[in-house]
Amino acid sequence: MSWNSFGRVFRFTTWGESHGPALGVVIDGCPPGIALSEGDIQPFLDKRRPGTSRFTTQRREPDQVRILSGVFEGRTTGTPISLMIENVDQRSKDYSEVAKAYRPGHADYAYDAKYGFRDHRGGGRSSARETAARVAAGAVARLVIPEVTITGWVEAIGGDAIDPARFDANEIANNPFFGPDPQAAIRWEALVDGARKAGSSLGAVVACEASGVPAGWGAPLYAKLDSELAAAAMSINAVKGVEIGDGFGAAMLSGEQNADAMRPGVEGPDFLANHAGGIAGGISTGQPVRLRVAFKPTSSILTPVKTITPEGEATEIATKGRHDPCVGIRGVPVVEAMMALVLADQKLLHRAQCG
Ligand SMILES: Cc1cc2nc3c(=O)[nH]c(=O)nc-3n(C[C@H](O)[C@H](O)[C@H](O)COP(=O)(O)O)c2cc1C
Repeated sequence: MSWNSFGRVFRFTTWGESHGPALGVVIDGCPPGIALSEGDIQPFLDKRRPGTSRFTTQRREPDQVRILSGVFEGRTTGTPISLMIENVDQRSKDYSEVAKAYRPGHADYAYDAKYGFRDHRGGGRSSARETAARVAAGAVARLVIPEVTITGWVEAIGGDAIDPARFDANEIANNPFFGPDPQAAIRWEALVDGARKAGSSLGAVVACEASGVPAGWGAPLYAKLDSELAAAAMSINAVKGVEIGDGFGAAMLSGEQNADAMRPGVEGPDFLANHAGGIAGGISTGQPVRLRVAFKPTSSILTPVKTITPEGEATEIATKGRHDPCVGIRGVPVVEAMMALVLADQKLLHRAQCG
């Protein structure tokens, strides 16, 4: 009962804390013979890396990945793949107030209530430093599913959403927000700057789409592709909501509006809509798999908030240190990684049962 592992056939276990010497991941069940080098992983870590713009935490971590095992002569051997990333820019003294008082919304109180002892430095294991390990594992997962293309983006920050009519996938890499609407990205600069200067923070909605997923991945009933993706997304720090396809919006539609009508196609059916987000009966339909994820605003803020000390005394906390003013921004590569990890696992599970 340690809950640091995820996946069934393509199974990974992350380890490490924010202020330990290093963190990493062990992947078990990766098929043999796949070409793998650090160069396949590093670009994804670079996307998640802190300190790349003023809109993310100013912690400076190069996040250089090292492959420690499971690869011989440039190819996976089928044995556990161990990946390690060193922590080089810790400032433990920035977190002295977190030792003396619980940050409302963060994991401080709940960890103490459960374990009775916690590494408060940078949030310890509850820090999203851990998500670097997931992103590294996700890069390996992508190599197991070369037929799939995964794209994530930010859909809204602080309640200010993109205009879907201006969606341009080529814009996502052109601004520090992973935003597909250039006008929204300009507005978000002022919005995030304003929140940071006010000692506050903002929530965000992240969307992720996987195209090229063939029909047939997933399973009824207790391992529906929907529930696997929801569990994967919900396991990400600060995620408080997940929608597959139209999600809650589907509850507002009539049956005929919500139907993904079908016509005969060249290879399988032509679908006239994708309200279901590419999944029916827990199994992929061959349409793009669509996921939306709600990130709450960062809990560590400079604005003082009422709280208590570990001894139960009333106090206030203003969290200093270096924090993301909007965690959803760097959440994009993490959501993409979890999508890849689930789909790689599902591909191997499908092959195991159906050949
Ligand atoms: C990429 C990323 C970066 C984050 N950075 C911060 C941060 O700088 N400060 C903070 O308080 N929380 C940050 N978080 C969120 C916390 O890790 C999270 O709120 C905390 O672990 C409590 O878990 P919960 O919000 O899932 O309940 C970040 C989350 C993600 C995904």
